[in-house]
Amino acid sequence: MAIAVEEKRQIFHLQGDNFSYIFHVMENGELGQLYCGKKIHTKSDYKNLATREQRNATTAWRLDKPDFQTDVLKQEYAGFGKGDFRVPAYQIIFTDGSRISDFKYSGYEINQGKNRLHGLPCAFEDSKDDAETLTLFFEDKNAQIKLSLNYSLFPHQNVIVRSAEFINNSSDWAALSMAFSAQLDLPDCRYDFIHFSGSWARERHLVRSRLRPGLQSVGSLRTASSAQHNPFIMLARPDATEDAGEVLGFNLIYSGNFLSQAEVDQFATTRVLVGINPQEFSWTMRQGETFQTPECVISYSASGMNTLSQQLAKFYKKHLVPARFAEKERPILINNWEATYFDFDEAKLLTIAEKAKEVGIELFVLDDGWFGHRDDDTASLGDWFADKKKFPLGLGHLSEQIHKMRLKFGLWFEPEMISIDSDLYKEHPDWVIHVPDRAMTPGRNQFVLDFSRKEVVDYIFTMMSKVIEETKLDYIKWDMNRHITEIFSTALPPVAQQEMPHLYILGVYDLYERLTKKFSEVLFESCASGGGRFDLGMMYYAPQAWTSDDTDAVERIMIQYGTSYGYPQSMMGAHVSAVPNGQTGRVTPLSTRASVAYFGVFGYELDITKLPAEELAEIKEQVSFYKKYRRLFQFGKFYRIESPFIGKNNTDGNIASWQVVSEDKKQAIACRCQILNHANAPYCRIYFKGLLPDQKYTVNGSTEEFYGDELMNAGYFVTQTIDAVEHAKRSADFEAKLFIIQAVD
Ligand code: DGJ
Repeated sequence: MAIAVEEKRQIFHLQGDNFSYIFHVMENGELGQLYCGKKIHTKSDYKNLATREQRNATTAWRLDKPDFQTDVLKQEYAGFGKGDFRVPAYQIIFTDGSRISDFKYSGYEINQGKNRLHGLPCAFEDSKDDAETLTLFFEDKNAQIKLSLNYSLFPHQNVIVRSAEFINNSSDWAALSMAFSAQLDLPDCRYDFIHFSGSWARERHLVRSRLRPGLQSVGSLRTASSAQHNPFIMLARPDATEDAGEVLGFNLIYSGNFLSQAEVDQFATTRVLVGINPQEFSWTMRQGETFQTPECVISYSASGMNTLSQQLAKFYKKHLVPARFAEKERPILINNWEATYFDFDEAKLLTIAEKAKEVGIELFVLDDGWFGHRDDDTASLGDWFADKKKFPLGLGHLSEQIHKMRLKFGLWFEPEMISIDSDLYKEHPDWVIHVPDRAMTPGRNQFVLDFSRKEVVDYIFTMMSKVIEETKLDYIKWDMNRHITEIFSTALPPVAQQEMPHLYILGVYDLYERLTKKFSEVLFESCASGGGRFDLGMMYYAPQAWTSDDTDAVERIMIQYGTSYGYPQSMMGAHVSAVPNGQTGRVTPLSTRASVAYFGVFGYELDITKLPAEELAEIKEQVSFYKKYRRLFQFGKFYRIESPFIGKNNTDGNIASWQVVSEDKKQAIACRCQILNHANAPYCRIYFKGLLPDQKYTVNGSTEEFYGDELMNAGYFVTQTIDAVEHAKRSADFEAKLFIIQAVD
């Protein structure tokens, strides 16, 4: 049993392969946190870990218990208003205006596996042989409200998935004003807070800073997880590196407003809270109604951040990504967006498709602009039928031609959006999210549909289904290009308006659920102006996501490196685009663009019909190279070697390197990128990781053989000499070198 229960003292020990998570029921009937860290023995008591000291100038639980002070205690899911002055995990407002809850423990149950949630993306363990779920029950008898805390332990990935569920059994309403998914109180604050922040086209750059007294957090109020901050955070010991030291990772299986927060209190302990952002949230439960929080994934590594990322990648593959795609190699695609934007017709697209087929590409994706009368971004969102001008023979005809070429066919949708210039708006102006008699704020000339209304989701489902059936679609890129303003639903009563952000996301999930169920073979790629909704909620439905609209190879180094901390490379859409790059104006070699993009779900985003024969030939080679190593690139164990982020380990941001290793460790590919070239550059080596120490390998087909321990500890010499012929053709900046490491039989 990975979950051990000490019945008498009500101690719960969740033991992963390498970590322990222990808590107990305290005298006041609430849960107290005892330990979260490297694996320790199971005992019948942990008196020392539960010991508390009476402190002055704070409150006590009861007159006869002056030393039971909740403000001093580490807790598991704390309420507010009874002496713990830190930010609580939840708060309930009652009909009399009071906000005090008193949940007392009433029992527990343990089940094998991990059930799915209804209506929310979630971790799952359907085979019931890998996970155990502990549910603890609490009741506030006065208020007649029940609370369940769920802990699913995935011992081999050192992951715990947590969530909370409230049930109102009273005849009155009760309103949740906040309900986090997980709280974790840690006994000290010697951690760095690591988050992944940025902006559109600059997503998920790593930011690392020491915890300090007070609150530090990242969050979103955009009704999307956002490009600005990602819900994934880590707490790492200050000396923790990629390969050593303690790290805790937290992520939310959710795509809407979130808050990932750490609070360092007066006693230098740390409280982590992860969940729906309480700002812009409230949920009224009438008699018999429940509220289920999204799930929070907590993972622990005692051996650095590479291990943490690797165990998370494994966990997502087994327990979050749709099972039919978990191990399925993803096709190499070509997308017409940067080649044509809105200016295309069937003939033009077919020429691109033909050339793509010639070089070995497998999937043709028709992006924005195929529907209604969309010749620019001002029209037709919501009108999901083919533009007759561009496709006089219908979209089915185009798809037939593509399929005849033995290419797969994919289409772009932006299901949540509406243009004022659309048939849909003419018919249903009230379906737009807006506040009556207030101005509507446009974003990219468009507005958002009220997905809290079932009839809206039904309508879009029907429209999309028709297109999918007509085109026998293989792939969908689901875009979302603006954040939500004036959030309000004309279909909801005043009291429920603050439920709208969550209801909206539930509507998005409902559409995803129905489409992925009905068209289970269709591969979904999520997108939100690039990587603006790159989160675990999306991953549950769409196994891949467009990582960023920024396809410049140099910028992608940072974006993909940052993303790799919390997400596997099989989720990262990575394409080669034309130069000068549309976002940065930078000219990078075709080989560098491909070398960076190989370490994700590979594709092209350029007008392949305009390339010189020499580049086409190079692309053909790239495609067959990727096919040869596709499994390794998409599903291999990912190691970060040198960081492009300036900071720890004296990195100056000029060099970045990383590596993928096969399951059996017999094959690996590393990439080392040098952004700017230096004259007479310093001597250097690359230190590979994850190899078998006693196994002999070659590097890039070398005649010299190397033991794994040599390659990992002594390193491999990196030549700095510039190839004169190559150099004459282009600048020696932006160079990416690949190292193919192959075991010798
Ligand atoms: C934003 C996406 O990130 C792009 O790839 C492209 O699909 C455009 N939207 C189309 O409008």
